[in-house]
Formats: sequence, structure tokens, C-alpha cells
Amino acid sequence: MYRSFNPTVRTLMGPGPSDVNPRVLNAMAKPTIGHLDPEFIRLMDEIKGLLQFAFQTENELTIPVSAPGSAGMETCFVNLVEPGDKVVVCQNGVFGSRMSDNVKRMGAESVVVEQEWGRAVDPDALKKALDANPDAKIVAFVHAETSTGARSDARELCDLARRYECLSIVDCVTSLGGCDVDLDGWGADASYSGTQKCLSCAPGLSPISLSEAAVEAIKNRKTQVSSWFLDLNLVMGYWGEGQTRAYHHTAPVNALYGLHEALVVLSEEGLEASWLRHNRNHLALRAGLEAMGLSFIVPEDERLTQLNAVTIPEGVDEAVVRKQLLQQFNLEIGAGLGSLAGKVWRIGLMGYASNPKNVMLCVSALEAVLSQYNAHINKGVATAAVQASYV
Ligand SMILES: Cc1ncc(COP(=O)(O)O)c(C=O)c1O
Repeated sequence: MYRSFNPTVRTLMGPGPSDVNPRVLNAMAKPTIGHLDPEFIRLMDEIKGLLQFAFQTENELTIPVSAPGSAGMETCFVNLVEPGDKVVVCQNGVFGSRMSDNVKRMGAESVVVEQEWGRAVDPDALKKALDANPDAKIVAFVHAETSTGARSDARELCDLARRYECLSIVDCVTSLGGCDVDLDGWGADASYSGTQKCLSCAPGLSPISLSEAAVEAIKNRKTQVSSWFLDLNLVMGYWGEGQTRAYHHTAPVNALYGLHEALVVLSEEGLEASWLRHNRNHLALRAGLEAMGLSFIVPEDERLTQLNAVTIPEGVDEAVVRKQLLQQFNLEIGAGLGSLAGKVWRIGLMGYASNPKNVMLCVSALEAVLSQYNAHINKGVATAAVQASYV
């Protein structure tokens, strides 16, 4: 006979999902109401306002797509890119290459600005690509590359796009709530995020925001948007203004209760306070890991605070260590992705999970497991370094 599923309580310090705030889980357990119920429509309006706050934008078209971050990515590309268009894609990790794949699948041309993994996107390289491709229509890049832990200068890249009369598509999946995301300040045209990272919400929704220029470009398309589900012209019939909303798809009602609560939590803390907390815990984790002898692969001024990519001590089987952390300490950290597979661990400190207790747990559990495998690390100094960082 099948039984109810009761997952073990883990501490999630990988690249996402991160620990979900219990307030969010409680919100998701509230009674389901109809997705066209007037009470639900009021909740939708609040979610749009809260997302505008989180993204720091006045963009009217700011809504959650009913599917994970990849669907937010695809929504931006499928609505803005038409067959034959030229799109400059900055690629400094796994998620940049997915953007390029999206472009090609839409029958458009992807001009890739290749960048070393573990580095921010180089604005000079983008400028060269734009000089060489004056017919480019869109610039796309990842603000916070989860596969490497590198943060790019979104303000400068969006500014370049605008100077070359291109729209910008910005991946904010790992940055929203964890570090400075300022869509209007950057002049970004289309951005998407995910709920499972620094918003500390369950996975499965993708907040997006599009500028007036992006909406205008969608209205002036020569061809129909090739995806029915993600066509924003149709989606806006449901998420648009006023009390008369047309049925498009059945909204994930309880997931949206969760997103609302996650955004209320963020608004209570305040954006800057949240970014500062992420930075403080990152610095403490860094102190502990470096004292142990591990090092970061991203240069200091290009590092994310919410995703730490660190080297693995010589001779250590990284997968065995991760397995032991999970079995002995119920602690999840992430493996390297793509060309960094087997070379780094990715340690997340995202949203609710970015706290001193998790930093201490991670540093001491990692030291314990590495010591069991006689790894060459400095023993007995890491937790003191963490404490010193908080003092
Ligand atoms: C930077 C970035 N973009 C896109 C995605 C895709 O999001 P999802 O896995 O929710 O579809 C991820 C997921 O980790 C990500 O880190």
C-alpha cells in the first residue's frame, strides 16, 4: 500500500531550491479558492504591486508566470524574438547558453559573446559584438550566474544595449531579493526570476517584468507568438487591470498564496536589509572556508553573495562528500555544472537560508566530513574564523 510522503527536513544550501520560509509553507496550506474569485483577484493585484517593489520597477506588466524560471526565460524570448532576428547573448555559464538555445529555437540568430566561466560579462566584449552587428535587436545576459557564482554589471550592460537601440533581456533568477535588482534604474526591458532562490518560496513560479518599450515591441510583432501558453497578449487578459479577468489557464492558487507571503516577508525586512544580510553571511562563510584552505573561483568584486563557488581539496571525491553531508547532517550543497562539474562545490546562502546558523552548520559539517576522508585542510580554525567575521 502507498503511504503519505514525509520528506526529511533538510538544510538547503545548494544552488536552489533554498529553504522555504515556514510562513510561506503555512500560507500555501490555506483553503483553495477559485482563480476568478474577487478575493483572489485582489491577491493577484497585491502580488503585482509587491513584485514591482522587489524588482524596483513601475512596469505595469509585472506578473508571475505559472511555471518555473525556465518558463520566465522562455516567455521573454518567445514574445520578443521573431524569426530572422539577431540577438546578442552574453554567455558566461550554463544559463547564458540556455538563452542562446532559446533564440535558435525561435528561428532567430544568436550572436554569442563568449566569456570565461567564473567571470562577470565583459562590457567591452559586448560593445565589440554590438559594433560588429549593428542589426542586432536584443541583448541578453544573466545578472547572477548560478552555475559559477559571478555577478555581472547589469546597469552597464543594459545601458550599452540602449545606446545600440537594442532591447535587453536580463535573467534575475538568482539575484531577486538577494542583491541589488533595480530594473528601472538599469533601464532593463524584460526580466525574469524564480521563486525558489532568494525569495524563499516553493519552486514553480517565475516573476517577470517588461518595460513599455518591450510591450510595444510585442504589440508590433510581424508574426504571432509561437507559444499559446506563454503568449503575453493572452496572459494579460487574466493578469491585466480591472475586475473582469478572462480565463486563460487555472492559476496555481496556493502557490500564489506562497509567493504573496514571501514578498510580504521581503517587504517587512526591506530590500537593502535583505541584501546586507546576504552579504554579512557570505563574508562569514567565506572566512570559514578560506580558513580551512578552500578558495573562491570568482574574483572578489564579481562575486555573488548568495551563491559561493569554491574549489575542492585535492584528492577528494566531491560527490562522496556531498552524499555524506546529506546523510550525516541533512545538509545539501551543490555540485559544479557544465565545465565546472567535479571542480567546484556551489554553496547557496539564499533568502531564509542565509543566516548564521546555516553558515556555522555548513563550515563545521564540511570540516567534519573532509577530516573523515583525510583531506588536506586546515583543521580546527574554520568556526573561529566564522565567529570572528560576525563580531
Ligand atoms: C540563472 C538561472 N536562470 C534560469 C534558471 C532556471 O530556473 P528553473 O530551474 O526554475 O526553471 C535557473 C535555475 O537554477 C538559474 O539559476
